[in-house]
Amino acid sequence: MQYPSAQDINSIFNRIAPIYDQLNDSLSLGSHRLWKKMALRFAEPWQGELWLDLCCGSGDMAGLLAQKVAPTGRVIGVDFAESQLAIAKHKFPAHVQQYIQWQVGDALSLQFASASFDGVTIAYGLRNVVDMHQCLREMYRVLKQGGRAVVLDFHLPDNYLWRQFQEFYLRNIVVPTAKLYGMEQEYAYIFPSLLRFPQGRAQEQLALSCGFASAMHYAIAGGMMGILVLTKG
Ligand SMILES: C[S@@+](CC[C@H](N)C(=O)[O-])C[C@H]1O[C@@H](n2cnc3c(N)ncnc32)[C@H](O)[C@@H]1O
Repeated sequence: MQYPSAQDINSIFNRIAPIYDQLNDSLSLGSHRLWKKMALRFAEPWQGELWLDLCCGSGDMAGLLAQKVAPTGRVIGVDFAESQLAIAKHKFPAHVQQYIQWQVGDALSLQFASASFDGVTIAYGLRNVVDMHQCLREMYRVLKQGGRAVVLDFHLPDNYLWRQFQEFYLRNIVVPTAKLYGMEQEYAYIFPSLLRFPQGRAQEQLALSCGFASAMHYAIAGGMMGILVLTKG
């Protein structure tokens, strides 16, 4: 399978926006909410800080961050799929929403000055960008000195049984379920994207090569998901 272009990825996420949250909940049995909360704990956002949620999609991470940085901090959610942002804008109650600004933007060419943010999160986004180096370099650039970044994404388990289970689930549960919504093609690319995604130690090396001072990868959910924690020295 040929990997989609940036334009293909943009139209995939625009198309799936109306059912994206519903499918995430049903296909992960709600677990994606837990994994996002775990990523938040690694991120350790503080009241008053400015955070960027990159590839924010329908905005879950931005919503979690906003509740931590409020009332003096702010969150900016950036995504290039406008239909995802349209969902995000109406997802949270006003007392959360008021701390979030949504922006259309490209994760590979951010419109922010260098050293602007205390922290950056990217959930299920790094695997989807066409140039992971460039995305990590941009994350590094916009972080303040001492800032931190957290990458949450799928991961290939080391354990053979978990790996078999993951492949079975993605191929035989996720894709057929998405097919019910007419979105088979859109979800069929998750597994190939995971195969091209650097795993654990390789993710750490990739981040270090992009300038980060420290990089630690934690496998969660039986190794089927991973959280990469980065700091800018
Ligand atoms: C799987 S979704 C994740 C959404 C959200 N972070 C979440 O965890 O539910 C991946 C998102 O990355 C966005 N994306 C992919 N490449 C991008 C790029 N170069 N710039 C901005 N957004 C991008 C897509 O539009 C999509 O909304």
